[in-house]
Amino acid sequence: MFREKLKREIEIIKSNGLYRFLREKRDNILDFSSNDYLCLSKHPEVIEAVKEGLKYGVGSTGSRLTSGNINHQRLEEKIAEFKETERALVYSSGYATNVGVISALCKKGDLILSDKLNHASIIDGCRLSKADVLIYNHCDVEHLANLIEENWKKYNNLFIITDGVFSMDGDVAPLRDLKKIADEFNAILIIDDAHGTGVLGDGKGTLKHFNLKPSDNIIQIGTLSKAIGGLGGFVCGIDEVVEYLINTSRSFIYSTALPPHVVEGCIKAFEIIERGDVVKELQKNIKIANGIFKKNGFIKENNLTPIYPFIFKEKTMLIAEHLIKNNIFCVGIRYPTVPKGLERIRVSINVSHKKEDFELLCEKIKDIYQNHLNQTTNNPYPLYSRLFSQ
Ligand SMILES: Cc1ncc(COP(=O)(O)O)c(C=O)c1O
Repeated sequence: MFREKLKREIEIIKSNGLYRFLREKRDNILDFSSNDYLCLSKHPEVIEAVKEGLKYGVGSTGSRLTSGNINHQRLEEKIAEFKETERALVYSSGYATNVGVISALCKKGDLILSDKLNHASIIDGCRLSKADVLIYNHCDVEHLANLIEENWKKYNNLFIITDGVFSMDGDVAPLRDLKKIADEFNAILIIDDAHGTGVLGDGKGTLKHFNLKPSDNIIQIGTLSKAIGGLGGFVCGIDEVVEYLINTSRSFIYSTALPPHVVEGCIKAFEIIERGDVVKELQKNIKIANGIFKKNGFIKENNLTPIYPFIFKEKTMLIAEHLIKNNIFCVGIRYPTVPKGLERIRVSINVSHKKEDFELLCEKIKDIYQNHLNQTTNNPYPLYSRLFSQ
């Protein structure tokens, strides 16, 4: 009965063109899908550090509060030093961090103001919290200010929550303005810098990119699974925030701590980022990709980050499939991850990519478009006019 019900629901997902499935990642495929922007997941020094960490065993064997720290505190001290905050706390994933931090800090009688394009883990954290939630239009500081002005008197605490770098668009939150509003209304600004850490501000993140200093009303969240190349998440800020989370944050308290070898690899990854070369390499590659993607008509403005949304709308999944057949791995992103009508191929670049890789990607997309998707029109690139009219 239940099986039949699920089968019917899966058929509905399929008929809506939203079916998801898991596929193997082939060796030697040209990969534009990974968040390993600095390629630290395969860095020899990181691998060595991970091997060294295995001396503690494969698993941490329990929650931090029950089984204690192994090397976790060393990683937290490293993150706090790196982010120039009083303290940091590590979780088992970025998802667990957002859900655990937001649900613990934002309570009944509080108001959360959340950017419309915030990551799903922020949305889920908001849903789990007992606070009221208002969504402001994407990066729209004026809309945010209006919502706060209309509502702040009714609430105990205000929280403004934003991605630092937006995961599906690669654009950067207007942190300077958000901080100004937070200061004016005595609000807490929570920044999920999952895609800014290791990328912007000499790798230190989006706050540093804007030359803003950590302060009592800023909480930074991050993940260890993107530019850091490992697994896990973290929150950093003032001492009392961390102390409070250790006591109340359910995804921290009731979940097994990160495996110690992963912790060791992450500590090494931060050390490599601090040396600076690898972040400069990434920035160099972003400039090269900007030039090529612009010349080919796939972007209008230069990107600051390695995430490029190529918006192909209803053609997205067909293009992604053809790219895979051509040995290029890019993911097609659909609703509900992105809004309907803005389906896209999310191209994420990293330090291993060469100029020729970007050129090949553009060439293959044009090729696919002309040979497989464009039989009904004489215009060779109707796609681009649609892109530019967005
Ligand atoms: C903005 C943002 N926050 C949080 C997460 C979750 O991080 P993790 O993959 O470490 O759970 C992601 C990952 O997709 C993300 O893009």
